[in-house]
Amino acid sequence: MSTFQELYERYGVLGSFRLLGDKLATRISFPQARLVRRPFYVRGKRWIQIDGGFTTGPGLRLDAFPTSSGGKVVLRIGRDVQVNDYVHIAAIESVTIGNRVLIASKVFISDHNHGSFKGEGPHESPLVPPQERVLASVPVVISDDVWIGESVAVLPGVSIGRGAIIGAMSVVTRNIPEYCIAVGSPARVVKRYNFETSAWERV
Ligand SMILES: CC(C)(COP(=O)(O)OP(=O)(O)OC[C@H]1O[C@@H](n2cnc3c(N)ncnc32)[C@H](O)[C@@H]1OP(=O)(O)O)[C@@H](O)C(=O)NCCC(=O)NCCS
Repeated sequence: MSTFQELYERYGVLGSFRLLGDKLATRISFPQARLVRRPFYVRGKRWIQIDGGFTTGPGLRLDAFPTSSGGKVVLRIGRDVQVNDYVHIAAIESVTIGNRVLIASKVFISDHNHGSFKGEGPHESPLVPPQERVLASVPVVISDDVWIGESVAVLPGVSIGRGAIIGAMSVVTRNIPEYCIAVGSPARVVKRYNFETSAWERV
């Protein structure tokens, strides 16, 4: 079967042309990526590092704005990462996404808040408009082979261990160990993989 016939059967005529346009846009904007579907919104591209094989659905939004001097990369996306539709990732200090991570649709990942709410300080007053508060950041790490379900929020300071799974609609506020399943808001571990029995066990 020809490539065009495969495309036609899977996406139809309009979908095939759209895909070809997406491939061209990817070549121009993200030469190292596999496919970044339009529309995409990327701000602070020079502070973003994306390794090969990156694939996304439409509506990807990446924001990278280092607040400290030095202009270092603040958003790193590893090899063969797959991101579905309308995902927003925002970094001002450090967001690291490992290799082969799968991120479902409508996921939000950020390393910062508008203000710091842990202790005293003039910028913590609710009388300061949110846009004028000093940004407070803590790095986020999403390790290799993590799967993040639909509509999840990963908040500042969180590390998610290798091979972990985050259930749909969860809000991740604390670290999640490797090879665990965590669900809910706030996300809590409900299962852990036992490598001796090769089975997921309830926690
Ligand atoms: C996390 C997930 C993989 C767990 O699957 P599972 O291990 O078969 O889960 P179980 O049905 O055994 O559930 C274990 C417990 O967690 C709860 N739970 C499962 N997923 C949950 C979720 N997303 N939010 C809240 N609780 C959840 C179950 O109700 C159950 O609770 P109980 O012990 O009180 O009955 C699955 O529920 C999920 O959320 N998948 C994401 C799907 C998705 O986003 N797909 C996008 C494609 S990229």
